[in-house]
Amino acid sequence: MKNTTSYIENNKDRFLSELVELLKIPSISADSAYKADVLRTAEAVKERLEQAGCDTVEICPTAGYPIVYGEKIINKDLPTVLVYGHYDVQPADPLELWDSAPFEPVIKTTELHPEGAIFARGACDDKGQMYMHVKALEFMTSTDQLPCNVKFMIEGEEEVGSVNLSTFVKENREKLSNDVILISDTGMIAKDTPSITTGLRGLSYVEVEVTGPNRDLHSGLYGGAVANPINVLTKMIASLHDENNHITIPGFYDKVEELSQEERAEMAKAPFSLDDYKKALDIDDVYGEAGYTTNERNSIRPTLDVNGIWGGYIGEGAKTVIASKAYAKISMRLVPGQEWEEITELFKNHFESIAPKAVKVKVKPHHGGQGYVTPTDNIGYQAAAKAYTDTFGKAPIPQRGGGSIPIVALFEKELDSKIILMGFGLDSDAIHSPNEHFGVFNYLKGIETIPLFYKYFTELSK
Ligand code: BES
Ligand code: MN
Ligand code: MN
Repeated sequence: MKNTTSYIENNKDRFLSELVELLKIPSISADSAYKADVLRTAEAVKERLEQAGCDTVEICPTAGYPIVYGEKIINKDLPTVLVYGHYDVQPADPLELWDSAPFEPVIKTTELHPEGAIFARGACDDKGQMYMHVKALEFMTSTDQLPCNVKFMIEGEEEVGSVNLSTFVKENREKLSNDVILISDTGMIAKDTPSITTGLRGLSYVEVEVTGPNRDLHSGLYGGAVANPINVLTKMIASLHDENNHITIPGFYDKVEELSQEERAEMAKAPFSLDDYKKALDIDDVYGEAGYTTNERNSIRPTLDVNGIWGGYIGEGAKTVIASKAYAKISMRLVPGQEWEEITELFKNHFESIAPKAVKVKVKPHHGGQGYVTPTDNIGYQAAAKAYTDTFGKAPIPQRGGGSIPIVALFEKELDSKIILMGFGLDSDAIHSPNEHFGVFNYLKGIETIPLFYKYFTELSK
């Protein structure tokens, strides 16, 4: 491709300021107070896609937040790349832990990012990574180097489980038809070590409610004689792991695909420093399922984690009370083979079965999604590998990721194409955490690498 680096150099200030503008809109899909902002973000994405050279862009309504769909079809005989991303972001709380306001983006240098990094909610997940694709398209159209057709599908509900996207995909198979799906919503191993995510974990997310007495009680008058829902809930939760940190729900592991020793040995070759890992998190030791390494625990093994737990008195000072109710939100990360609906059912049955008679338990499923693994022997993977090799000077390492993009498995099934996960984020970017950021280097490298994917994919399709 011609002039990529000079185009980026000449336009990088604008690339950054445009992203900053997008990051100012608090498109928090989980909180209905931000509804107008989420909708405003969809409009902004539409405008950006039009400016970048899409022929048509529409805002497609769903039962929830709309999907922005755009396309540029240059020749029906050429391959089509479908880009997926999301314009919604996670809630920003706890606000007091941010060094700068989450929706007032600032560019600051850090030890890891001497070129600067953009600090804002959504900087990396996923506005920054999604916008790399918009700018890559701008580069290709304005320098007359777009080698194939392109479609964009940018949704606004990824952070809340993509519940309405599946209907949209099923109803628009023709419109979305493509030869490969390209997503930048994952990470890479290190700034100088590109990787391609070859797997994502599935998810089952549930909320549980434990009810004891019909009202909050004096903890002296009643304490010891009735079940305390918080005591009971925490005991039930603790029993979900055994002493080896295996999950105790009967049947939970039945369909887990075990990797062969060869595959595990291959995985272990990826560069990883346990010391650096511990240092970055300020922990003295790691913790997890016996018999597996840290990288295995967070990618090829399923997990169960409490994401939030509440009940009782948490205000200032003390209040002697036995609360009537206690609650927890629990996520289970699943691996290929495990069906998320089935796991949700197993959890529900088990959790209800271990509750003492003295309490009532409700399990409310939230959302879920299937895990995903992608083979590396396809032209999509090869095109991505060649693109990274050109821009980083070394071949990317295939790596299974621990996070979830629930819709990915459905894309493969409904649209019958492979998904290529070209992530440019770093684990240290603090996605979903306070002080989320995205390196300027990573952002620009993404814009540089993506057009090469289009080029190589088109060449390899011939
Ligand atoms: N982009 C992330 C997923 C991700 C990040 C995968 C890094 C691999 C590496 C995505 O936006 C996300 O946060 N997904 C949610 C699932 C959703 C149902 C809330 C997740 O993984 O918790
Ligand atoms: Mn994301
Ligand atoms: Mn996310």
